Amino acid sequence: MTPWTLFCLSVPTLILAGAASGGHCSSNNNHLDPASKKFVSDCSDQTFCSGTDITNSTCVPRQCRRDEFPFGFPPSAVLPLLCLAGTFCPDEGSGCRPLVPPGSPCELNRDEQCSPPPSWQDLASTQNFNGSICLRSLCMYANATLGDRCITDNTTYLDIGPTGEQIANTVTRDNCQSPQLYCNPTELLCEHTLPLDSPCETDPQCTSLTCAAGRCVNPPATPLRIPAWQCALTVTAIVVVMVASCVFLTLMHKQHRLDRSRELRDYYYQQISLRRSIIALHLAAADRYGDEKVVLGSY
Ligand SMILES: *[C@@H]1O[C@H](CO)[C@@H](O)[C@H](O)[C@H]1NC(C)=O
Ligand SMILES: *[C@@H]1O[C@H](CO)[C@@H](O)[C@H](O)[C@H]1NC(C)=O
Repeated sequence: MTPWTLFCLSVPTLILAGAASGGHCSSNNNHLDPASKKFVSDCSDQTFCSGTDITNSTCVPRQCRRDEFPFGFPPSAVLPLLCLAGTFCPDEGSGCRPLVPPGSPCELNRDEQCSPPPSWQDLASTQNFNGSICLRSLCMYANATLGDRCITDNTTYLDIGPTGEQIANTVTRDNCQSPQLYCNPTELLCEHTLPLDSPCETDPQCTSLTCAAGRCVNPPATPLRIPAWQCALTVTAIVVVMVASCVFLTLMHKQHRLDRSRELRDYYYQQISLRRSIIALHLAAADRYGDEKVVLGSY
């Protein structure tokens, strides 16, 4: 289960709306929910705790949003702005800030708060944001190469399952170059990830990031890829069947016409022979009549 699914499942328990705009708050109470890791404060989801006196501050409307559809805003609400490129919106929504360099603090699972490395195209993967990663609340580049010492960060998300049991999902992340390397958790050195079907123990070991029943497998949502030869075979088969149907129908039609024309020809022959017979009959009858007249006239 992904952290996002767990988060969605735990949403009903999180709607403990804090103080609305103008309410009292203390920034000391800003924290992440221990189970879901969602940011919580004394203020509601639409406001953040602002003020110079940390223990006696006021909830004010959020200055920015991180998501296209932010949590806790009704559909009709006027949303705070998204941040421009090169800036980010912190969890509390207190306003856009510039990206931070490696070694500076960042918030959990907010890789996009870190400025990208100069060679970000080479390091970028689905495991980081433009080659930067936020591990143990610090920005760093995901640039550790094979055999380098690496840093891992485990985050455990908790939720209650449908039958009331607790579900824990631990996500392990590291600063090795991905997806070809991962951080071996015992030696803390970057190692090659394993291809599909290799024996594995944990998800990060696999290039596919999914280890099921001791083997590296494709993640559950992987789209089915049809090999080119199967596509070609299917297309060829369809074309062959279509052409064969056309040829078969044409031949059948031709045969039908041939049969019909034979039938007609036979009919005409029959008619002609009938006509000839009748004419012959007439002639024979006329001959006989003529003969009789000659015979009678001779008397
Ligand atoms: C908090 O600040 C307000 C004004 O900003 C002040 O009136 C109030 O007395 C303060 N409360 C405490 C407990 O310091
Ligand atoms: C990786 O990035 C760090 C900064 O996070 C930098 O100090 C280090 O030199 C880089 N290492 C390599 C191999 O590029």
